[in-house]
Amino acid sequence: MTDPIVPAFRYTRLATDGAARLGRVETAHGAIDTPAFMPVGTAATVKAMRPESVAETGAQIVLGNTYHLMLRPGAERVARLGGLRAFMAWPGPVLTDSGGFQVMSLAKLRRLDDDGVTFQSHVDGSRHRLTPERSVEIQHLLGATITMAFDECTPYPATEEQAAASMRLSMRWAGRCRAAFVERPGHALFGIVQGGVYPHLRTESAAALTGIGFDGYAIGGLAVGEPHDAMLRMLEHTAPLLPDDRPRYLMGVGRPQDILAAVRRGVDMFDCVMPTRSGRTAQAFTRRGTVNLRNARHAEDPRPLDEGCSCPCCQGHTRAYLHHLIRAGEILGPMLLTWHNLQYYQDLMAGIRAAIAEGRLDAFATAVLAGYEAGDV
Ligand code: GUN
Ligand code: ZN
Repeated sequence: MTDPIVPAFRYTRLATDGAARLGRVETAHGAIDTPAFMPVGTAATVKAMRPESVAETGAQIVLGNTYHLMLRPGAERVARLGGLRAFMAWPGPVLTDSGGFQVMSLAKLRRLDDDGVTFQSHVDGSRHRLTPERSVEIQHLLGATITMAFDECTPYPATEEQAAASMRLSMRWAGRCRAAFVERPGHALFGIVQGGVYPHLRTESAAALTGIGFDGYAIGGLAVGEPHDAMLRMLEHTAPLLPDDRPRYLMGVGRPQDILAAVRRGVDMFDCVMPTRSGRTAQAFTRRGTVNLRNARHAEDPRPLDEGCSCPCCQGHTRAYLHHLIRAGEILGPMLLTWHNLQYYQDLMAGIRAAIAEGRLDAFATAVLAGYEAGDV
């Protein structure tokens, strides 16, 4: 028998509009049209969504988390059950974050040293250790299509000295991740640029990572509390330092306006809990801005949530019904709003891709923002 043909991991840039890029990422588990939004499936589920519904919104890749899955149900167990994609019944590509970011935001009693980080589980208090090698091994056990380098997300604010030390630690770890990563066709390892809000540190970090050589490059340590214009300046500075034949991923971003701003500065991939988390707290994204369905003004509103949306929430239900579900604490409320919000994000990305292809991204962004800022009526 001959081996099935597994496509190599490859990024193809198909068109540009200013700094914005239309592209396609091919992987062992399917292709991803970029700019892309990756729904967050932290604990082997995009919360409140069945995987086929996630795919129906147009999502082509989901994100999983090393930190959560190593604690529960455990990476070795997921491996025995066929890997994360089989376990969660998501046949497409999966990107796993490497754990350091979640350790710092969720774990108890964290202790960071040059070799890695020791911490206590937020689930049951048990002690665990993550190193670059163990993070890469866990992501391998999970069967990640895209493995992220183990890094420290430099907090904000940080002095220049603190940001430099943190970034250089992440760069040493990035080299160790590259060495530990087991190459497989169609699978990828991404490095993560750090450096806080200091342009020369971002330059040093990008040079260190491109020197090591990665299949894609993430920009980390942003949207951590810095002013919005500082994030934009860091993107403008960093994106041009990255190889233009590799995908670029802005981690943990963001709001629709942030995604538009980052695409216009050359970013290809995004993830954020916003559409899913907001969906569970009655907040919806619409073509006329954000709407809170808990608000009494929706109590007898017979209109759909978003006139321009094709999702089952908007096609089948009124704002009045969604308001009732939320007020009554019914589980269908978060389910419908999550679906709608993910559909909104995927429609936004599809619109962005079409606009880049036709060289009208500026006009598209202006129109989206005008609708968004006009407000809900
Ligand atoms: N998610 C959001 N920001 C970051 C970051 O800087 N590093 C990692 N690993 N994950 C993130
Ligand atoms: Zn909808």
